Amino acid sequence: MRLQPDFIHQFVPGSSSRTLLLLHGTGGNERDPIPLGRELDPSAALLSPRGKVLENGMPRFFLRLAEGVFDLEDLKHRANELADFVSAAAQHYGFARDKLVAVGYSNGANIAATMLLLRPEILSKAILFRAMVPLFPERQPNLSSARVWIGAGTNDPIIPMSETNVLAELLRSGGADVTMHAFPAGHQLTSADVETAREWLTTLS
Ligand code: MLT
Repeated sequence: MRLQPDFIHQFVPGSSSRTLLLLHGTGGNERDPIPLGRELDPSAALLSPRGKVLENGMPRFFLRLAEGVFDLEDLKHRANELADFVSAAAQHYGFARDKLVAVGYSNGANIAATMLLLRPEILSKAILFRAMVPLFPERQPNLSSARVWIGAGTNDPIIPMSETNVLAELLRSGGADVTMHAFPAGHQLTSADVETAREWLTTLS
């Protein structure tokens, strides 16, 4: 049976009730974040879709006009499409939506943040590595059950810390419980990011 809406994806069954929604960065694909998912939680199921947009042949989750300048209409459309895919995948593979935690890096973190802001009924928990403010929603979302971990790099040439702070405040203003860590790093993920996020994950029910 085909999943509607359809994304090229990998699903790896787990031995616990948690599912990690793995969202790759620009130029990645559905296979790249599988080892990261396993490192973060060896017993969770993993759902890893491939972004449908191509930028010079590199998969992404939504269109951008320049680095850090997003096509907002496309972003909203793609975030809703991905939320619908996650909902269909939960039925298809039989995983619990309330145990879903997104793990996104860079472009993947930005689409995860958009889903939190636009579709919190589908996604309310997330680990965001190197995320920025994707958009300001027209309506204030109810994020009272949302839990979000954000990992920023103090020397990130793409995302200044001030931008990540605005994202944390935007999520908090909707009621989200946000944990933010700043690492002495650039845009690349570090082992300290992964270790700290892994510890935070153990605090989720
Ligand atoms: C984005 O486009 O989502 C951000 O600029 C991060 C990136 O993918 O380079």
